[in-house]
Amino acid sequence: MRHTIELTPRLRTAADLVPAGARLADIGTDHAYLPAALLLEGKIPYAIAADLRQGPLLRAKETAKQYGCRDKMAFRLCDGLRGIRPEETDAIVIAGMGGETIAQILAAASWVRERNVPLVLQPMSSLPDLREWLQKNGYAILEERLAREEETIYVVLFVRAGETPPMTAAELWAGRQSRDGLRGAYLEGLVHKLDRAIAGLALAREGRGEVRKQELEQVREGLLEMKKEWDAWQR
Ligand SMILES: C[S@@+](CC[C@H](N)C(=O)[O-])C[C@H]1O[C@@H](n2cnc3c(N)ncnc32)[C@H](O)[C@@H]1O
Repeated sequence: MRHTIELTPRLRTAADLVPAGARLADIGTDHAYLPAALLLEGKIPYAIAADLRQGPLLRAKETAKQYGCRDKMAFRLCDGLRGIRPEETDAIVIAGMGGETIAQILAAASWVRERNVPLVLQPMSSLPDLREWLQKNGYAILEERLAREEETIYVVLFVRAGETPPMTAAELWAGRQSRDGLRGAYLEGLVHKLDRAIAGLALAREGRGEVRKQELEQVREGLLEMKKEWDAWQR
């Protein structure tokens, strides 16, 4: 039997944000590497591995068997948090899904906010939408960390019930400014993404998409300001 799991930087960053001692619910668990790694490390006593599909849940059971942590894990075939009872979890991870799906899952489970359950969220897309949704729905983004795997930089959010002060359009895109070592590369990547989107909108017929183009140009300006500030910190 194997006794450790080496997580990828993305999952390691998410795992590091899970509060020690929490009974964890990992939603969209797939292979369940994150909860199994935390159980093996002794950071958490118990985990629920949940997934919408049977195939990923079977992979999760296989991981638990392989690493000898089946007795500390429960498995749920369910959509989002629908199969989790509020009293059986102290922290929730939702990683590797689109930001809109994450928002839908949270919108369907108001108990998460009411009970102030700590959340570790790792969206793969639609970050501006997710940050805005969190802000408008009574959640505070307490911390954001970045993780790099080859050319991709991932964002991991630590969130709890509370108020997020108003964010500028650029902050909705990039999160609040921080001194994270990957921040410069992350901001550059976002500026390139915006350049492509703005170029696409410029090709559209006159008038169509003009408002959106102006919005994106404003976001781009904000990101360049953040990048300038971050560069100054590096000197
Ligand atoms: C790309 S995998 C991510 C696996 C792991 N969490 C990670 O970050 O490496 C996404 C998983 O989320 C599951 N999923 C998608 N929508 C879901 C939902 N609404 N509720 C539960 N699981 C969902 C999929 O079946 C899939 O196994």
